[in-house]
Amino acid sequence: METIFDLKGLRDAVSGWRNECNSIALVPTMGNLHLGHLSLIEGANNRADRTAVSIFVNPIQFGQGEDYELYPSTLEQDLDILRDANVDLVFAPNLEELYPAGIEADTRITVPDISDILCGEFRPGHFSGVATVVMKLFLNVQPDYAFFGEKDYQQTLVIKRMVSDLLLPVEILTLPIVREKNGLAMSSRNGYLNEPQKQLSSEIYKALEKAATMMKVGPSSFEEIEKNSADLLEELGFKVEYFSIRRRRDLKLAADAVDKSLIILVAAWIGDTRLIDNLQVDL
Ligand code: PAF
Repeated sequence: METIFDLKGLRDAVSGWRNECNSIALVPTMGNLHLGHLSLIEGANNRADRTAVSIFVNPIQFGQGEDYELYPSTLEQDLDILRDANVDLVFAPNLEELYPAGIEADTRITVPDISDILCGEFRPGHFSGVATVVMKLFLNVQPDYAFFGEKDYQQTLVIKRMVSDLLLPVEILTLPIVREKNGLAMSSRNGYLNEPQKQLSSEIYKALEKAATMMKVGPSSFEEIEKNSADLLEELGFKVEYFSIRRRRDLKLAADAVDKSLIILVAAWIGDTRLIDNLQVDL
């Protein structure tokens, strides 16, 4: 496994692969790897001749007062994990490598509509930050495939839309959420939770499952289910940003009895930790 910190090294490595007619899969990450990332890497290894993983905590997708400074950085541990996972190349650039003009003056990619709802409403500029860094990675790795986890479901749609609008020759593949034993969706941010908070966190998945059952059996409207679920989580001690039933294809509001391919999405705080999760529902 090669570990590369600069763009020139990255470009040389991938052009070598191209010359050998190898297909390339990219798994973009912010490090602090967990089993969710490993499932993406397994998907990448199965799909392409070569797997590249990027590790970069991208400052421009964090809002003011968010956890950029706190975000866990565990490079040595991550590299050990990636070596065991048969990754070919790790790209772990520093800030100047990806943002030579600094982060304020940088050119940004903005993906309309889908970036402004749900998480985008509560984290203005977040998806533009994600799209911009992913675009930089795509331009320099030129992958045939890129893998993303469905925990960040809205992010997967933002990236698919960017790829389709900008005619990028990369196939976006997504893989299901990997969960802790208690149902909590795996995330690097779970490390912020103390023991009682970890126990409480299992209620998010329970609320999603309960809402899915209510959608299937009726007679409550989607609006009632959303409200009851958010109220339940609030009573348990969460601060809920949204608990929302949406159309899976575009995250537009779902209409009762019309839309069948749905997803329930939730964002909620436990103390100072913001967690997101979702559950796909077919009616
Ligand atoms: O999902 C993530 O870890 C990040 O948003 C990503 C895609 C690596 C961009 O920084």
